[in-house]
Amino acid sequence: MARRKKIYEGKAKILYEGPEPGTIVQYFKDDATAFNAEKKAVIEGKGVLNNRLSEYFMTGLNQIGVPTHFIKSLNMREQLCKSCEIVPLEIIVRNYAAGTMSKRLGIDEGTQLPRPIVEYCLKDDSLGDPLVSEEHIAAFGWASQQDMEDILSLALRVNDFLTGIMYAVGIRLVDFKIEVGRVYDGDFQRLVVADEISPDSCRLWDIETGQKLDKDVFRRDLGNLTDAYTEVAQRLGVMPKTSTPITKPTLIN
Ligand code: CDP
Repeated sequence: MARRKKIYEGKAKILYEGPEPGTIVQYFKDDATAFNAEKKAVIEGKGVLNNRLSEYFMTGLNQIGVPTHFIKSLNMREQLCKSCEIVPLEIIVRNYAAGTMSKRLGIDEGTQLPRPIVEYCLKDDSLGDPLVSEEHIAAFGWASQQDMEDILSLALRVNDFLTGIMYAVGIRLVDFKIEVGRVYDGDFQRLVVADEISPDSCRLWDIETGQKLDKDVFRRDLGNLTDAYTEVAQRLGVMPKTSTPITKPTLIN
């Protein structure tokens, strides 16, 4: 049987050619990596949870008029998306200090920021995705001034949307990362939210207890990652409370 063509394999996903021109299929793997892939594991069920959660967030964004690459879910691990040209930036929005911001600036994790702060990192694993300024982005032509205005507006709208739906289920959205892509429509190009939105790319803390419900559980060995992601999915009502895809992580190096 003809196998569809693999376009790219990343750390957590595989992209295949889609059934029609201008589409791709995004397959969510169970692989987890941290610290620029120095720490790796296969966590059974993670891909299924992230596929479902990303579908939920992207569908909601599409419905409120924030354009995304998401078209529809195909099965437990795959979704059909518009193919786009990824802007080589990781766009991070922070509401509370954590992670590298806390380390870099000496601000205690969990400190509320005076307003959402947007940061840009260059998407380059070999350099460890370094923080870059808008000066770098303009000078090296990674995105135009108009792109940067659109990116900022997308990032803040995603932040408002995600903050609200998380708050409603007792979860604090500490920070998150998005990627954006260019979609061409004849002679026009527009930017859309691409890649994924999942607990792999957000920091999510229980509002009452401060319990971490995101990839820091894996990065910092705080327990079972699938349990944490299942908790998020169940609170959001995207996974029945009875399902228990719970398994221990297997370290592969
Ligand atoms: O996560 P880490 O401490 O390495 O970096 P950060 O700059 O504090 O990350 C901010 C947010 O972006 C966190 O929610 C990360 O999970 C997310 N992020 C990501 O998804 N992918 C990256 N390559 C870097 C950060």
